[in-house]
Amino acid sequence: MGIFDRLTGKKPEKSQTMGEERAVPRHIAVIMDGNGRWAKKRGLPRKAGHKVGAETFRTIATYCKDIGVQYFTVYAFSTENWKRPQDEVDALMNLFRTYLREAAETMVKRGVAVRVLGDLSVLPADIRQQIDEVHALADTLGEQAATASLCINYGGRDEIKNAVRALAREVREGRLEPDAITEDSISAHLYTAHMPDPDLIIRPSGEVRTSNFLLWQSAYSEYYFTDVLWPDFSTRDMDAAIDNFNQRSRRFGGV
Ligand code: FPP
Repeated sequence: MGIFDRLTGKKPEKSQTMGEERAVPRHIAVIMDGNGRWAKKRGLPRKAGHKVGAETFRTIATYCKDIGVQYFTVYAFSTENWKRPQDEVDALMNLFRTYLREAAETMVKRGVAVRVLGDLSVLPADIRQQIDEVHALADTLGEQAATASLCINYGGRDEIKNAVRALAREVREGRLEPDAITEDSISAHLYTAHMPDPDLIIRPSGEVRTSNFLLWQSAYSEYYFTDVLWPDFSTRDMDAAIDNFNQRSRRFGGV
């Protein structure tokens, strides 16, 4: 079996870079960092960095689909990002509105299921409605469709806390024995319940930390860090990350 498919049991996709065959990760996740610094370097407001970052997301999500990545997941807004200036929060919410509108119009034609992961209960009502519409359309796409997930108002600890609460309720109602709680049943109560764990997590912008992103799911993920700021992140940078991933030896705790 290949280097990263032991968890999924699936054969990896192959793609060509510079004439060489390489394995493409089934699930790639990205912490889209560095938008603010990108804007500052140009004397622009931070929201200009997010706007270009959203364009980069479109480009990279499309590229991932084209090369056979089945799941592409990005950290778009954390549970902590509400602390940012209102103007910046509003600009991000507007970018989500625009993208969700586009997704609703083009998703079926493009064959990419768009999902939003996180505690959506506190999002503005119009965005929640857009998300409901997008999820309803995503549900009509078959299992084979690629999935692009936006983590919005997402926090890894918050996600685990919610899963623990749900399991505790099942125990209290007598539907679950505490000893019947398994790693799989915890995974099944996360926002990512229906997708495999990420094989590769990319963090651009020179920061080297996980920032509360996919804490449970990243137990055996490979991390790739680069100094490139997210708005500058190109398909070449994605190729470099995948090539680097291909050089890793994933042992999942074995030898
Ligand atoms: C972190 O960079 C980035 C965010 C908090 C927001 C990421 C959101 C986007 C790229 C827009 C996404 C929109 C769609 C439609 C997918 P930072 O602002 O913390 O950068 P800094 O560390 O340089 O200040």
